[in-house]
Amino acid sequence: MNHLDLPALTRAAGTVRLPGSKSISNRVLLLAALAEGETEIRDLLDSDDTRVMLEALQKVMRSGIPGDGAGVMKCPVGGTAIGEGRWRVQGCGGEFPVKQAELFLGNAGTAFRPLTAALALSGGHYRLSGVPRMHERPIGDLVDGLRQIGADVRYADKEGFPPLEIFPAAVKLAAPIRVRGDVSSQFLTALLMALPLTGETAVIEMTTELISKPYIEITLNLMARFGVTVGREGWQRFTIAGGQKYRSPGVVHVEGDASGASYFLAAGAIGGGPVRVEGVGRGSIQGDVKFADALAAMGARIEMGENFIEARAPADGKLKAFDLDLNHIPDAAMTLAVAALFADGPCTLRNIASWRVKETDRIAAMATELRKLGATVEEGADYLVIHPPQSSALSPQPSVPIDTYDDHRMAMCFSLAALGGVPLRINDPQCVAKTFPDYFERFGRIAAPVIAIDGPSASGKGTVAQRVAETLGFHFLDSGALYRLTALAAIRAGVALDDETGVAAVAATLPAEFPGDRILLAGIDVTEAIRAEEIGVGASKVAALPAVRTALLERQRAYRRLPGLVADGRDMGSVVFPEAPVKVFLTASAEARAERRYKQLIGKGMPANILTLLQDLQERDARDAARSVAPLKQEADAERVDTTPLGIAEAVAAVLDSVRRKLPQMER
Ligand code: DC
Repeated sequence: MNHLDLPALTRAAGTVRLPGSKSISNRVLLLAALAEGETEIRDLLDSDDTRVMLEALQKVMRSGIPGDGAGVMKCPVGGTAIGEGRWRVQGCGGEFPVKQAELFLGNAGTAFRPLTAALALSGGHYRLSGVPRMHERPIGDLVDGLRQIGADVRYADKEGFPPLEIFPAAVKLAAPIRVRGDVSSQFLTALLMALPLTGETAVIEMTTELISKPYIEITLNLMARFGVTVGREGWQRFTIAGGQKYRSPGVVHVEGDASGASYFLAAGAIGGGPVRVEGVGRGSIQGDVKFADALAAMGARIEMGENFIEARAPADGKLKAFDLDLNHIPDAAMTLAVAALFADGPCTLRNIASWRVKETDRIAAMATELRKLGATVEEGADYLVIHPPQSSALSPQPSVPIDTYDDHRMAMCFSLAALGGVPLRINDPQCVAKTFPDYFERFGRIAAPVIAIDGPSASGKGTVAQRVAETLGFHFLDSGALYRLTALAAIRAGVALDDETGVAAVAATLPAEFPGDRILLAGIDVTEAIRAEEIGVGASKVAALPAVRTALLERQRAYRRLPGLVADGRDMGSVVFPEAPVKVFLTASAEARAERRYKQLIGKGMPANILTLLQDLQERDARDAARSVAPLKQEADAERVDTTPLGIAEAVAAVLDSVRRKLPQMER
């Protein structure tokens, strides 16, 4: 089976820009399709579940090409991340033009339920099916509600479950529609979004307690943005006055995914932090931002702005046990179940019965996998009690295999367990594509360990850093090469090396690639060219320009990937990766360095004079230490390794020794 090995981790810190919310993306797509006018949707999530919705809408609409009727089209805006998530929907004004279609909806509940209701009121003949698990997830409460108003929805296989077949029918809204709300709030969402299509006044009465209420708030909020208001009496009765129609609000921005945010915030709370997520905050319409309150109840330090949330570990480092009713945040609650492994006592998650009918039976799956990590778990019909493992390490096993049950959230929340210093094997990791295709890359960006190595010129740090990376199987960042590439690219483009804005623009769009151990600039091999003395001098000039350093910052941070990174260069431990758990200052006497360089040059058959080399190095050290931007200095928390008496193999061993002391979990 396909798997992903996560190394033992301990620290997490950094910033994550969230992908778009699944709940908002799929609701906005349907509302825009049903509305009059054209809607531009920005930052739409690109994942399995949204693709399912897009493809279904494209089937029941037409091309979306202006003048050619309703449809959904990807905007031809290239390049930027925002452009990639930009879509244009030419709404059909309340009636899908295609009257016959077969729709395959995967395991996307947020597509299946609302489309069932909208198509049931569309006067066509449709067949809706999904993956086998979708056919085990109940839909009877929604079908019952639709049948009360005359819709002709039939079970194609098992009573109460998909697949469904829908036939044209005359719909009439005489009496209130009575529906249950205790299995899934999506049934109510589906009815609410579809009923304005009838044009008549519609009343919905709940016959049970309504679960997951914040998701209904998302629905009502987005309907209002499309011009339809819903009267609400508590969570009991909803009235949609007749004569309302969906109208496009023009442009809609999709917020970042608050459920996806929960993994990173929990990582900050468990792994020290601060971890900041951008794209959700105080202004969010998603109930899952309340996950931050639950983390705060565990003692995590939370900061929230209009469009960001940040989490850090408790001041004393120890997360507290909790006993919480989590009905309002059923998805993010899974993240709390894994955070419970790190609590100082037994944790109780209450009122989570809906977990049983999600992508998998999440209560059973969670209990099984938590036990593999040494937790004692008590499983009830609608609750879990989790006793964290006794020892500080979560499990004595060398690598714990975690099964994910084709459930994206199981895969994502269990990645957090690796922060307990235990290596994990996540089986079938690509199931995260349902809502968060690049989850593990983003997780690596905040949690992968970084070994930062700096030191004076000719200290051998490049060679040593590269060998350390090879030994550990880590990625390697030669940040000096990026400054050298910038200098070379600027010279080739005719940009003066003291033109800060010009060189920064070159750095920001550097067309560099690193296949194997070669370095390409705009497709041309420059591995040797950037090592020229003239380019070294140029690199040193451009590296002193603050705007150039800023332009290269995110590019350098993107090298932080699982299982870890060795980063070589001047400000690796201070600016680029200040949270690096291992920082090494590799140095040697100027005489030793001059001698090494001398041997190197002579070996290459080049002329060299040892005294001139020594003088050059001493001058360069003085210049590097005196410069105002990123000066050469040993960080307070860096370990000094003096390689004057050491060969390369011994220097590598000394660095690895430091790594083992700082990251003892690497021994496992
Ligand atoms: O390590 P190197 O000789 O390839 O570095 C080239 C130049 O870039 C050198 O002057 C140091 C500078 N540099 C820097 O300022 N910051 C870094 N992170 C890496 C290199």
